[in-house]
Amino acid sequence: MLLLASIVLAHAVLTLAKDPVWINPVNPNDPETLPSGEEKRVLIIGGGLAGLSAALELAERGYSVTIKEKYAHIGGKLFCEPVQILNQTFYIEHGFHAWFYNYYQFKDIRERLGIDKNFKSWGAVHYIFRNYLPEVIYSEGPYPLNLLGIISRSPNLKLTDAILSTLSLPDMLFYDFDHINKKYDNITFHEWAIQKKVAQDFYDIIMKPALSVTLNEPETFSAAEMLAFIQIYFLTNAKADTRQVANVNYYQAVLGPWTDYLKKLNVNIKMAKEVVSVKIDEKSLNVYGSVDADSDDTNVYDWVVMAAEVGAVKKIFNNTLKYYQNSPSVKNVLSNCVQNYLGHMKVSPDYKVMRVWFDKQLNSSAPNILETPDFAPINLVAQYHLLEEEFSVWANKTGGSVIEFHCYTWSSYFSANASDDQVWSLITPTVKQIYPEIFDKNFKVLAYHVNSFENFGSFEKGLLQYRPFVDTFSKINLKNIYLAGDWVRTDYPSALMERAVSTGREAANQILLQDRVKQVPLLVVNKKGPGLF
Ligand SMILES: Cc1cc2nc3c(=O)[nH]c(=O)nc-3n(C[C@H](O)[C@H](O)[C@H](O)COP(=O)(O)OP(=O)(O)OC[C@H]3O[C@@H](n4cnc5c(N)ncnc54)[C@H](O)[C@@H]3O)c2cc1C
Ligand SMILES: *[C@@H]1O[C@H](CO)[C@@H](O)[C@H](O)[C@H]1NC(C)=O
Ligand SMILES: *[C@@H]1O[C@H](CO)[C@@H](O)[C@H](O)[C@H]1NC(C)=O
Ligand SMILES: *[C@@H]1O[C@H](CO)[C@@H](O)[C@H](O)[C@H]1NC(C)=O
Ligand SMILES: *[C@@H]1O[C@H](CO)[C@@H](O)[C@H](O)[C@H]1NC(C)=O
Ligand SMILES: *[C@@H]1O[C@H](CO)[C@@H](O)[C@H](O)[C@H]1NC(C)=O
Ligand SMILES: *[C@@H]1O[C@H](CO)[C@@H](O)[C@H](O)[C@H]1NC(C)=O
Repeated sequence: MLLLASIVLAHAVLTLAKDPVWINPVNPNDPETLPSGEEKRVLIIGGGLAGLSAALELAERGYSVTIKEKYAHIGGKLFCEPVQILNQTFYIEHGFHAWFYNYYQFKDIRERLGIDKNFKSWGAVHYIFRNYLPEVIYSEGPYPLNLLGIISRSPNLKLTDAILSTLSLPDMLFYDFDHINKKYDNITFHEWAIQKKVAQDFYDIIMKPALSVTLNEPETFSAAEMLAFIQIYFLTNAKADTRQVANVNYYQAVLGPWTDYLKKLNVNIKMAKEVVSVKIDEKSLNVYGSVDADSDDTNVYDWVVMAAEVGAVKKIFNNTLKYYQNSPSVKNVLSNCVQNYLGHMKVSPDYKVMRVWFDKQLNSSAPNILETPDFAPINLVAQYHLLEEEFSVWANKTGGSVIEFHCYTWSSYFSANASDDQVWSLITPTVKQIYPEIFDKNFKVLAYHVNSFENFGSFEKGLLQYRPFVDTFSKINLKNIYLAGDWVRTDYPSALMERAVSTGREAANQILLQDRVKQVPLLVVNKKGPGLF
């Protein structure tokens, strides 16, 4: 009996993990770089991960690349800036990020930049709930034992919750990207869970936490998008939920080495350079340049990669459409882009990330990162002195601590206009529930820093059919422009940072193909779920 069980299990292990899939160059016999002496100019609008990824591939292959970034800092939603705090310079990022096992393009970039040493693993993930005991979730061992392990270790979940018999399993274990996208983008994930009779505790403990970190309004999030998240971050293979964090600030860890390398390849990175609209040749419909907020760039580019975030892309296209009102051919194609695609795209609600310097430290039982899905407006608390070196040095010297609070969908709870010095008192009642120790032991707030943004793409139900792919605009005849970014549609499961770098690489590949330079391979998450025995 035992032998039989092991055979079945071994079979499961061998066949169930779904390997990622290579997207190989369609032109493997073309040369690796542009012929020497041939100049091709590329304009990349936006210096986030998508723009940096496109720049990396194109610059390595001999292109003359210009990046225009609106802000004085590079990196978009990963940016990290020096800030004077307590008479010292700290590099503070936009907010805490995690890098996941299935981030194949990002892993490849990390290796190429030699920055792997700047990451360490984030072991178990700690959660607290209002109506359940705290959970420490980690996946160990081969699929499906990893899932059974999570349930058996859980103080809340029981196999008898009929988890394994709910109607939800086929959509997850036998996940099929194309089918699920067709079937479930018109309902919310919550509606799906009700339809499928997902056990309430399973929803609250496993699914709701994942929803709460999408930065979207959880109640409106598309079921198709969430099922893709579950495939990427949980199910496709046993390691899917293993993650890493940076051990130094994100400038030192990622952005500094990346931009240094691009500069060595002569990439022209123009900071504080806001693109207002793009220039289009009225005859050929080639997009060949940009009008910038501070000046007119008269350079003519062969290619343009639009790598700004979705709200900014909408604005740039709106401005461009206004500019070409009297040119029927351009107006026609731009209206198509705006009305049939961009006009449907949305930005998700505003959010704040607050980092606080305290004079004391939480006792050692507080985890480095705590997810708090039931404690809106706070979704996540990260103890930075346990994560990144400069904060650790400061904390060891002073006995203090540096703690970051993520508050997504801020204006569902408070005024969008709350000033930075109001934020701490607004979130204090919730912090008290999460870490009473801070108040019981009279921690003093020595300093704080608040980031407020409204720049994250919406993935609410119903948007997938309008979401453009990298090459959608070029296919509808707006020539020489490709889209890249975490909001752009892919025909494989991808999300967040990994979608940004993958679409950046896809945009580069579109250009390489037309210039007859060998494309760069991509490794992507399998479209199919792991199955069950
Ligand atoms: C708080 C928070 C936590 C997150 N946690 C995670 C995580 O744990 N794991 C994960 O994978 N992802 C996470 N993400 C998501 C991740 O940060 C993004 O998916 C990714 O950084 C997006 O990269 P991008 O290049 O597509 O877009 P962006 O980073 O938004 O880059 C777009 C760039 O375009 C620039 N731009 C805009 N308008 C113009 C203009 N007119 N002219 C020139 N430039 C312009 C912008 O300034 C910006 O630099 C998190 C995001 C946030 C906000
Ligand atoms: C910062 O430096 C000033 C001047 O040197 C000093 O008066 C002040 O106490 C310092 N503040 C902190 C928090 O160390
Ligand atoms: C969503 O789409 C599916 C498949 O196209 C259809 O059967 C279903 O009725 C739609 N549901 C809603 C709520 O529109
Ligand atoms: C773009 O223009 C349309 C119509 O003029 C308007 O409704 C929309 O708000 C504009 N969007 C942005 C982001 O400027
Ligand atoms: C230590 O922290 C934990 C969780 O944050 C808390 O439950 C516990 O009461 C704290 N212990 C002390 C001695 O403060
Ligand atoms: C700070 O102290 C802790 C605990 O002693 C130690 O593990 C850590 O390495 C120290 N950090 C630095 C940057 O020295
Ligand atoms: C926030 O400020 C803007 C302008 O500064 C104002 O138009 C808006 O009404 C304010 N909103 C709230 C909720 O106070």
